[in-house]
Amino acid sequence: MKIIRAKDYQDMSRKAANIISAQVIMKPHCILGLATGGTPVGTYQQLVEWYNKGDLDFSEVTTVNLDEYRGIAKEHPQSYWSFMFQNLFNHVNINPSNVYLPDGTNPDSAAEGARYDAIIQHLGGVDLQLLGIGNNGHIGFNEPGVAFELGTHCVDLLESTIEANKRFFEKKEDVPKQAYTMGIKTIMQARKVLLVASGAAKAEAIKAACFGPVTPQVPGSILQMHPDCTLVGDAEALSLI
Ligand code: GLP
Repeated sequence: MKIIRAKDYQDMSRKAANIISAQVIMKPHCILGLATGGTPVGTYQQLVEWYNKGDLDFSEVTTVNLDEYRGIAKEHPQSYWSFMFQNLFNHVNINPSNVYLPDGTNPDSAAEGARYDAIIQHLGGVDLQLLGIGNNGHIGFNEPGVAFELGTHCVDLLESTIEANKRFFEKKEDVPKQAYTMGIKTIMQARKVLLVASGAAKAEAIKAACFGPVTPQVPGSILQMHPDCTLVGDAEALSLI
């Protein structure tokens, strides 16, 4: 794993956006795997800024997102679909028909997982997968203990993840209890992985993911086995390594 030290959140966001921009410039019809959460917001803002300056063109880009809450429609303000449109898609020239997220309203989890993996396969796989990391080392919504060989599947969110994500909802009870997520297998098939991390709350997870044993107890630790994974972290997130 290549580790890039950024000074602070803004520096992390610019460095991550630079890597994504390079991907889009090198391969305008690339498949970008995208992530939600607070960490990539600054990266998306930077991409929008460069798009507005005329430096980036998303017209041929296709995106596949990591995950989506189960049981809420895409129009729900806290769906990851809404997040992506608010933070990126509404502000750049991406074709909305080239944007994919798991369908949180599909009640058949096996069918939804298979449908989503078939889309990714049909697209020819992900060129660059952007990832955040949970405080407990989760990537996507792959919680500790997940089987590494899974493709896209339905997960029960841990209490700690619901707790961490309640800030986006009016009250904790509104946070969905389940989600569809790309599995570790799906994530590891991406040709490049870009992991972003910011803040002291991520320091333990980053240390365990980068230098601890490769174990399902720390889902992010599998990235040590990825042939082309880059971590961009700010000083606080990298403070223990
Ligand atoms: C959620 C998302 C993850 C994300 C994690 C960390 O659980 N499913 O993809 O990495 O939150 O989020 P944040 O960046 O807000 O700390």
